[in-house]
Amino acid sequence: MIKSIEEINGMREAGKLAAEVLDMVTDFVKPGISTGELDKICHDYIVEEQKAVPANVGYRGFEKTLCTSLNQVICHGIPDDKRFLKNGDILNIDVTVIKDGWHGDTSKMFLVGKTEAHNERLVSITQECLYKGIKAVMPGAKLGDVGHAIQEHAEKNHYSVVEEYCGHGIGKVYHDEPQILHYGTPNTGLEIKEGMCFTIEPMINLGTKFTKKLSDGWTVETKDGRNSAQWEHTILVTKKGSEVLTKRSDENF
Ligand code: MF3
Ligand code: CO
Ligand code: CO
Repeated sequence: MIKSIEEINGMREAGKLAAEVLDMVTDFVKPGISTGELDKICHDYIVEEQKAVPANVGYRGFEKTLCTSLNQVICHGIPDDKRFLKNGDILNIDVTVIKDGWHGDTSKMFLVGKTEAHNERLVSITQECLYKGIKAVMPGAKLGDVGHAIQEHAEKNHYSVVEEYCGHGIGKVYHDEPQILHYGTPNTGLEIKEGMCFTIEPMINLGTKFTKKLSDGWTVETKDGRNSAQWEHTILVTKKGSEVLTKRSDENF
């Protein structure tokens, strides 16, 4: 669970590539494009430009490079050539890249065209939830502190936290131990140690926390049909706090 400096450098490279996919695809996210086209653009970029591997392809039978989760979809939306983005949509794009065996996993929200204020607010508060979770990461703190920071901010804003899906340890294994819950009680759970790598990926709903899985076996939606947002980073625990391995060009930590 604790990574050596060589292993950390492998994770840094994988994280950087994953972030670069989201940077690259940003200009393509516009009304009229299909989620299937976005998937193909990212797939080809990873394989041909980055000389890396799209981790989701073939993962437990998933066939695409991206998860594209629109509006009331919480996570694991499947890119589709017939699903076109429209003005007002909110979209999560989640990508994982493998480089030299190491995984970098990250996602961001996109506002498509002109979106409603309540959706923009959900998206930005969810990003703040991720940032507050990251800030709670430091050696000696507990995983419950991370979950608590996220939950507190979400609930203060009258949103709910999805409980059935969580962050995860990450390295040569995509979904490793420990589970990173996005809710919790301060000073409980596993102690955080320098050299650990894990994702934080809060899914925050406008309405209730309850979920339903569609018959495609992947797509997870809110039970009440109201919108959901998610942001994800892969992080490394450092001596003083954390390093965000999937930092994008629009971010400063
Ligand atoms: N990237 C997702 C996560 O954050 C997992 C996607 S698995 C897939 O952990 F098969 F749906 F792609
Ligand atoms: Co993840
Ligand atoms: Co992900």
